[in-house]
Amino acid sequence: MSPTSTPVADLDRIVGEALAAFDACRDPAALENAKAAYLGKAGALTAQLKALGALPAAARPAAGARINDAKAALEAALARRRESLAEERLAADLAAQALDVSLPGRGPGRGTLHPITLTMQRVETLFRSLGFAVADGPEIEDDFHNFTALNTPENHPARSMQDTFYVDGGLVLRTHTSPIQVRWMERHPPPVKIIAPGRVYRVDSDATHSPMFHQVEGLWIDETVSFADLKGVITEFLRRFFERDDVAVRFRPSFFPFVEPGAEIDMAFGDGGWLELAGAGQVHPNVLTAVGIDPQRWQGFAFGMGYDRLAMLRYGVSDLRLFFENDLRWLRQFA
Ligand code: FA5
Repeated sequence: MSPTSTPVADLDRIVGEALAAFDACRDPAALENAKAAYLGKAGALTAQLKALGALPAAARPAAGARINDAKAALEAALARRRESLAEERLAADLAAQALDVSLPGRGPGRGTLHPITLTMQRVETLFRSLGFAVADGPEIEDDFHNFTALNTPENHPARSMQDTFYVDGGLVLRTHTSPIQVRWMERHPPPVKIIAPGRVYRVDSDATHSPMFHQVEGLWIDETVSFADLKGVITEFLRRFFERDDVAVRFRPSFFPFVEPGAEIDMAFGDGGWLELAGAGQVHPNVLTAVGIDPQRWQGFAFGMGYDRLAMLRYGVSDLRLFFENDLRWLRQFA
């Protein structure tokens, strides 16, 4: 339509042509082309709308209303034609037996558990079988439970071993599961024999470090629990976890303010490499004192183990960050 033609004048003709064009379409693609010819940006009806501005102001409302009515009629006709084409297609497929209506429906895909969740479940089952109960604690911690009560007062250099995400109000995203030890002992007198799994956070990222990762804390306090018990429990756990008797485990002297003596626990993997799995040691008397337990009478060990590292070793994964990219094709391998 030329800019000088009178809007509305051709309206009935355009609507008639459009309805005939829609009816003549034999497939959805042709129908969409026909739609564009009338209702698209450069379509005949759209041109009418654009030409409205050329009318005297007094004539515009009535003309506009007629064009909009025509547009609504065309859209309704289009929807009916879409539906009838889909029905024709279905009928044709059925007639040609291209569609087997007796096949089961697709339905929503069934989800599976994440490999870290599977690892957590396995660890929990194994520690329960060794007599440990399962405890829980908050992911947003106060400074006291995350550091101070663990013999790491403000300005202690060991705080820098864990690069921390600070939250408002002196709170932190917990950097390890060790605060759960403190919370548990505040409420439960010894003997204590728990594990405490959960998410922890540090400003860390490389093939074996992720900013959000998972630890399981272990704590066994009684009158005679020794470092030998720690070695026995960890070694037995790793044998059961990896289902082999020849796991090579190494306890390497290390420092954590909340244990004395302290160690890091490594496990052999691949061709002679070692992967650090956990920090551990005999709970420091200052930690017991901070929660009102008499260190002259009670003693025991604690450990904090990285779930993600356990999963790496179990599933033979070389970069821990893959667990958190959420690529379903990758994750499905472990279901
Ligand atoms: C601790 O977090 C101590 N709370 C462990 C502990 C508990 C010691 C009780 C003594 C007594 P460490 O920072 O080494 O320690 O972390 C423990 C384990 O968590 C590491 O051995 C490793 O397996 C895992 N880990 C640490 N940082 C990361 C990270 N960024 N990504 C994945 N795993 C990590």
